Amino acid sequence: MITQKSIQEVINIARVEEVVGDFVNLRRRGVNMIGNCPFHDEKTPSFTVSPSKNIYKCFGCGKGGDPVRFIMDHEKLSFPEAIKFLASKYRIEVEETEDTEAQKEQKLVTDSLYIVNEFARDYYVNNLFNRTEGKNIGLSYFKERGFREVTVRKFQLGYALEDRDDLTSSAISKKYNIEHLRTLGLTTRNDVDFFRSRVMFTIHNVSGKVVAFAGRTLSSDKKQPKYINSPESEIYNKRAVLYGMYFARDAVRKEDECILVEGYTDVISLHQGQIENVVASSGTSLTREQVNLIKRYTSNIKIIYDGDPAGIKAALRGLDIVLESGMNVKLVLLPDGHDPDSFLTEKGTDEFRNFLNTHVEDFVFFKTRVLMEEAGHDPIRKSVVIRDVVGSIAKIQDTFARTLYIRQCSVMLQIAEEILVSEVNKVIKAELRKKKEEQRSGEQVPEMSREEEWITPKPVLSQEPPEFVQNDAWQERSVCSVLINYGHKIMEGDENLSTAAYIIENVMEILQYFDSDLCRRILEAVGHELAAGHTPGHNWYLGHEDEEIRTFAVNALSTPYVYADWERKETFLQTQKMPDDNFVRDAENAIFRLQLRKSNRIISELQNWLRENMAADNTGEEYVVNLKVLQVLTERRNELASKLGTVTL
Ligand code: UTP
Ligand code: MN
Repeated sequence: MITQKSIQEVINIARVEEVVGDFVNLRRRGVNMIGNCPFHDEKTPSFTVSPSKNIYKCFGCGKGGDPVRFIMDHEKLSFPEAIKFLASKYRIEVEETEDTEAQKEQKLVTDSLYIVNEFARDYYVNNLFNRTEGKNIGLSYFKERGFREVTVRKFQLGYALEDRDDLTSSAISKKYNIEHLRTLGLTTRNDVDFFRSRVMFTIHNVSGKVVAFAGRTLSSDKKQPKYINSPESEIYNKRAVLYGMYFARDAVRKEDECILVEGYTDVISLHQGQIENVVASSGTSLTREQVNLIKRYTSNIKIIYDGDPAGIKAALRGLDIVLESGMNVKLVLLPDGHDPDSFLTEKGTDEFRNFLNTHVEDFVFFKTRVLMEEAGHDPIRKSVVIRDVVGSIAKIQDTFARTLYIRQCSVMLQIAEEILVSEVNKVIKAELRKKKEEQRSGEQVPEMSREEEWITPKPVLSQEPPEFVQNDAWQERSVCSVLINYGHKIMEGDENLSTAAYIIENVMEILQYFDSDLCRRILEAVGHELAAGHTPGHNWYLGHEDEEIRTFAVNALSTPYVYADWERKETFLQTQKMPDDNFVRDAENAIFRLQLRKSNRIISELQNWLRENMAADNTGEEYVVNLKVLQVLTERRNELASKLGTVTL
């Protein structure tokens, strides 16, 4: 177990814009930052990061939270794992208490596939550098290709021996589970090694974990496939992985462009040549998942093509998905007979870069040109090309850009602009119709909300309209929401009183009447902290060991005005316009309202009791006391009501 002290340390230091920024390309927008949501497919950014509150929120899919929550969701980690992840990012040493046996076992099960892959990676790397066969065949091959040792080590290249089961038996002798080796495709069903006599490429996910391998044969035997790959598994979905992204992501973000090449060796060569914003889609045509992965870091993609015109033509068809996602796509065609690796090795980095810059072409124009050249004067083939190009233009999201493309392509296709416009419109309309039908047939396409909603967020609790709430949970949550948002601030006019202390003082006596267990827990916990001389700030809640408290805090901080809707019915909320300036009134109002409801409830309970006990004995001590209490409570209730009345519209 990680100590509470370490958790707090991590939470205090982790900045949301830095943590999210490692995965999402963020742009400034006023006091906030926006980007494309990494949790759902979207064309216009609705993912908002608030550096001042240290939280993020997507108004498209609703995901939100603090840096730890982001890492948990994004990297699919547990809370302690996410804390460790951030600790290593910020170079914080994590203090841990000893794990129990059960915890150890659990961890072993969840991480075992990664662990086995890491073992295999270390094994292949060790073969390459330390074993005779690996050095003589594998390492010398890489050296011959011009890969320097640092590059080979960085990309964790390795070597699989000729031996039939060296990896498998070495894994078994080290007590790795043979089932895991089979699941990962390292060992075949006949218990022999899957990769043999091959140089090995380690495939990482974006966070650098080893998800798969590719092995390249060095034999010229044409019957041998050149590359063989790990099968898909729980940890490897090849449609969602881009080779080299882990090493490229910082550069992609920095350059605001992702270069896409075809081969593993192209990625490695370009990285070695200091062009680091490069990834490969490892043998498959580009998938939607891969496009979304790129989109986390940039909207600009540059594809370097080598190879024959037929291959390029086929590849072009697959690229409409990139246009659809609203990305800018550029293409570069390399001279005949070259791939990026060979071209860079021959020309050097400067000339390579220069070539890219001077030969870059817009995707739509490139496609139009290549297809037109190919169609020649054949009118039927020409009309097929026009249809194809119209389809691509219709996928372009930006209206203005679309107009420009239509103008230019009408010249290239030798067809009147108006005709092209009407053809494109037909396609767009047909697609809109299709989408509507899908929506109607229940295939819910989530409606994108605009970012203005960040300023006036929808109440989180609006699913529970107050009319239907039988208890006071709503008001209790409001109190907690104010507490979490502003508890650490000092109340106006009293230098020593924190808002938290004010709230606790006022709710302690009604705490036993709370309807929400969670709210009671929060207030009790805060009471303890205050008693110990510490006023909790945002991070205290966000790092609380109680998962429910953490989640509540995240929601409260991302949408502090959860009560906006019923406020309109009951009371005008001061803070709606100037949230941070009016927290005192908010705190007071929230408490008054809660006290009012509690008073009303206690009063009606008392009245019932008095009614029931009147006949029996109306002079008994208990009866008199309760009557007094009722009087006091009623007075207080009226006082509260009139206080609230002054702010009631
Ligand atoms: P290439 O044949 O261009 O290989 O295939 P390469 O990466 O340039 O390798 P070298 O330079 O010849 O050593 C391009 C990509 O297609 C996939 C691999 O991802 C490869 O990197 N591929 C190719 C396979 O998956 N299997 C194959 O049999 C061939
Ligand atoms: Mn190559």
